[in-house]
Amino acid sequence: MAELSVLSAASECWPLIKTGGLADVAGALPAAVEPHGVAMTRFLPGYPSVLRALPRKRTLFRYDSLLGAPARILAAKHDGRPLLVLDAPVYYERDGGPYSDAMGRDWLDNGLRFAAFAKAAADLAAGRAGLKRFDVLHAHDWQAGLAPAYLAYNVDAAKRPASVMTIHNMAFQGWFGADFFPRLELPPEAFSIQGVEYHGGVGMLKAGLMQADAITTVSPGYAEEIRKPEFGMGLEGLIVGRQDRLHGIVNGIDTAEWNPASDAALAAPFTAETLPARSLNKRAVEDAFGLEPGEGPLFVVITRLTWQKGMDVLLEVIDHLVGLGGRLALLGSGDAAIEAGLHAAAGRHPGRVGIRIGYDEPLAHLMQGGGDAILIPSRFEPCGLTQLYGLAYGCVPVVARTGGLGDTVIDANEAAMTAGAATGILFSPVNYEGLSSAISRAVRLYGDEERWQQMQRAGMKTDNSWGRSGQAYAALYRQHKEQR
Ligand code: ADP
Ligand code: GLC
Repeated sequence: MAELSVLSAASECWPLIKTGGLADVAGALPAAVEPHGVAMTRFLPGYPSVLRALPRKRTLFRYDSLLGAPARILAAKHDGRPLLVLDAPVYYERDGGPYSDAMGRDWLDNGLRFAAFAKAAADLAAGRAGLKRFDVLHAHDWQAGLAPAYLAYNVDAAKRPASVMTIHNMAFQGWFGADFFPRLELPPEAFSIQGVEYHGGVGMLKAGLMQADAITTVSPGYAEEIRKPEFGMGLEGLIVGRQDRLHGIVNGIDTAEWNPASDAALAAPFTAETLPARSLNKRAVEDAFGLEPGEGPLFVVITRLTWQKGMDVLLEVIDHLVGLGGRLALLGSGDAAIEAGLHAAAGRHPGRVGIRIGYDEPLAHLMQGGGDAILIPSRFEPCGLTQLYGLAYGCVPVVARTGGLGDTVIDANEAAMTAGAATGILFSPVNYEGLSSAISRAVRLYGDEERWQQMQRAGMKTDNSWGRSGQAYAALYRQHKEQR
């Protein structure tokens, strides 16, 4: 099989920089597609933590001005695979997160910061920035959305690599006002419906969706949902218009990072055959969250505290959960009002509800290894990774029936239980009634140890590796390379 070269441009990449699932996916993709003849090079903005983590790098290319600021493309290796970094101190050398300052306020120049990243990605992919041309450019989310547009408007058709645009979350579209357009160094005709124009301004995700050869999103369920206004969030018309180009490819998990048999973050590693060892992890979670031991299930939540994740609904059901004998350990950060509500709930239920505000990767692993069930009441969920980690760790997912959650969890209805196929609990709608009755079902099922363990084992046996999805991406790259 001929080797295919792909440049994957994403604004996050585990373990170098992570705010959510995008990082896990961008970090895992190269190994996922490698067995299928694809050599993937990752491209990332040079945030301080990324530059610090890569001691050995060489300058591949210099820009005197990349959309107005000096920049360099640096080449390094990570996990034994090539990784390119855009070092542009004017854009990226600052404290805080990749998109916002330490107080959580978005950087005011995010448009320019990621337009520069997308332009450099297009230059690299087209063979204009120190490397030979790639076969395919794979752009992720709005931060890389302009890259297919830069290819379309700045590179001759004969010299253009194929492009794939992946939607990880339709809610973040990267819209900036019309006065931003002249900064982009695109020809005037790019400010059009075919190009980057969206509602009178510049739509970065829209531009990528319009210009890419193929569009993917991270589950078949979400690929269906985004054809409707509720999930398409304004872009449903474009999606329907290009549906012959749209593919839903479910995310996998990195089974080397997320393996309960060898996970160093666990107090006690375990397998489907040694489930009782989980009790040591459970005790460690109770300790970490100041929880009293109890008979009922230990529910865990690991999430961004946002409306998308249904965290306002979770607040409403905490008293019900505790009333049924459950306990809750929550790790997350985000919306200040939700944080305050969580602290209030912990105050009402000492020893029953424990909250940790912040981001803690090892603790997230421990919670999956010690929790009885993971609650994911998302209003929408393009794929979701925490339910996949839950399945792999015997932490039974209790999830909203939406997007990738519905595609990856098998509800414990009678038929599925009898067949031994059930892996979790699905519910709808996302409101007090929906979530509280799902929690009641979980508590009842937990009381039947044999059935509960059967569910845990079925989840642990589910194949959530990148196998089939890696193959699907590779096939898509190959198809579009050949069509060029
Ligand atoms: P999203 O990307 O929408 O936030 P996903 O479920 O796809 O949702 O991915 C979330 C990722 O971030 C998972 O790897 C999860 O374990 C991790 N995560 C989320 N919040 C935290 C946190 N507070 N601490 C540690 N890991 C977290
Ligand atoms: C986004 C989505 C999440 C998905 C992740 C990785 O953050 O919200 O559902 O799992 O991207 O694709």
